[in-house]
Amino acid sequence: MSIAQGKVAVVTGAGSGIGRATAERLLGLGMRVSAWDLHADALAWLDAYEESSYLRCRVDVRSEDAARDAAAATQARWGHIDLLVNAAGLFLVGPLTEVTAAAIADLFAVNVIGTTLVTQACLPALMAARGAVVNVASTVAVKPTASNSHYAASKAAVAQLTRCWALELAPHGIRVNAVAPGPTRTGIYARAGMSEAQINRLLEDRAARIPLGRTGTPEEIARWIVRLGLEDEWVTGQVLAVDGGMSVT
Ligand SMILES: NC(=O)c1ccc[n+]([C@@H]2O[C@H](COP(=O)([O-])OP(=O)(O)OC[C@H]3O[C@@H](n4cnc5c(N)ncnc54)[C@H](O)[C@@H]3O)[C@@H](O)[C@H]2O)c1
Repeated sequence: MSIAQGKVAVVTGAGSGIGRATAERLLGLGMRVSAWDLHADALAWLDAYEESSYLRCRVDVRSEDAARDAAAATQARWGHIDLLVNAAGLFLVGPLTEVTAAAIADLFAVNVIGTTLVTQACLPALMAARGAVVNVASTVAVKPTASNSHYAASKAAVAQLTRCWALELAPHGIRVNAVAPGPTRTGIYARAGMSEAQINRLLEDRAARIPLGRTGTPEEIARWIVRLGLEDEWVTGQVLAVDGGMSVT
């Protein structure tokens, strides 16, 4: 039996991109997945799986009540939560001269406060299971960028929350790590209002600066999220760059 069999994971942002690839990988390993997303219809892909293996939850991670209700529904269904993957996130593009207070507030509400509220909601169950948390930071958390400063700052916050929570939760046997993906083609750029042409230009420009010469895939990121979440039981407080070497340039 694999170490994943029968375990329960909560995955936020499971409707698209990295969260979806992570949820699919966990299901493939025999885990039960509580898939959370703001857009319920984005979770339709779960129809392809055995109904007993997943729970679909429409959750806005900015809402404390929604996170608490979905954690309770997950507990009621399976009795435990062994892994939490905080993959829900927004991107914000634009220079300092154009950014608005409302856009910054929304960005931090999802990327920083949402990650916090969901972790809080799952914490009692994670403590009981001595489980693990994997957050999703970004290369730009450590590597400055000229055009996405507030996004980068929100991801630097996620990276530092990861290290602090690792210390705070270690006495409860909970490991907290993060993966810091490099540029990866997902729905996040269109959701930030970018056109197809702008997205292509951004990803081509980034790919040219990545030592391994290309952008990543959601599956390549998911592989390390799952590994940090389920294996490596002596690893905590780490932010692992999965970015084709971009962070060391
Ligand atoms: N794609 C990249 O290049 C890249 C690089 C580094 C880090 N990341 C991070 O990876 C994570 C996943 O992003 P992705 O690229 O897969 O993006 P994505 O847009 O494809 O998926 C994100 C999902 O989060 C959901 N979501 C957004 N706001 C939400 C909310 N308030 N409540 C619940 N769900 C919400 C969206 O509906 C979507 O399904 C994000 O934290 C992102 O910042 C992405």
